[in-house]
Amino acid sequence: MSVHSSATVKRITTHTLQEMKQRGEKISMLTAYDYSMAKIVDAAGMDIILVGDSASNVMAGHETTLPITLDQMIYHASAVVRAVKRSFIVVDIPFGNYQGNSSEALRSAIRIMKESGAHAVKVEGGSEIKESVSRILSAGVPVMGHLGLTPQSIYKFGTYTVRAKEEAEANKLLEDAKILEQCGCFAIVLEKIPASLAKKVAESVSIPVIGIGAGPHVDGQVLVMHDMLGITQEFKPRFLRQYADLQSVMMDAFQQYISDVKRKDFPSEKESY
Ligand code: KIV
Repeated sequence: MSVHSSATVKRITTHTLQEMKQRGEKISMLTAYDYSMAKIVDAAGMDIILVGDSASNVMAGHETTLPITLDQMIYHASAVVRAVKRSFIVVDIPFGNYQGNSSEALRSAIRIMKESGAHAVKVEGGSEIKESVSRILSAGVPVMGHLGLTPQSIYKFGTYTVRAKEEAEANKLLEDAKILEQCGCFAIVLEKIPASLAKKVAESVSIPVIGIGAGPHVDGQVLVMHDMLGITQEFKPRFLRQYADLQSVMMDAFQQYISDVKRKDFPSEKESY
């Protein structure tokens, strides 16, 4: 059942999200990359839809998030925007389109906002990308930060294991969260870090902190749609709760269809003109 009728939809904004943190209401966030899925996610009542650069993995079949381009992200984001009436839509700026050059960061963010109609952008990193974050914010574009296991840096990490277990990395992460808040970010994603550290971050900043593999003491949770639906079966980290087994459901449907075609059972007379 839809949680809203098209006439009376109250859109989620950065302000709504801030209020949710203040009153202790958890924020729900999920990825989506296309019109049909985004329509269902929005109607279900998701607070934030992330057009993640995980599209590089689950939509395009790349091993990492690095290959996806700005044009491809805008294509995915535009489709999501056309479907959504209520959710707040955040779009990842892809690898190579914001690091090290704040003018390029601003250009990338403006292209995403102008060409897709999304509501905010997300970038990975802390102090290293401070200038880019500030420059994007100076144009009035809301920015979501992303710290911890930042997939665009996978070749630097060399592994997908939990980040910031050591004191030095944990201290830097906490400092980075404060820097992102001071810059004016409206929220921060924390990926795959100890729950105790995530709790400390969520208590140390006034903006919403959304976790993925960061435990329960944060202001909201995000998952990748294909993982939580059980479409991707090969990726099962400890933090992932699988809410459906769509791979089996789809496999059954496809096999039934193949069988019906081969047996000349489909189409029937009723299904013909
Ligand atoms: O791209 C993505 O899906 C993400 C989430 C893992 C937070 O950044």
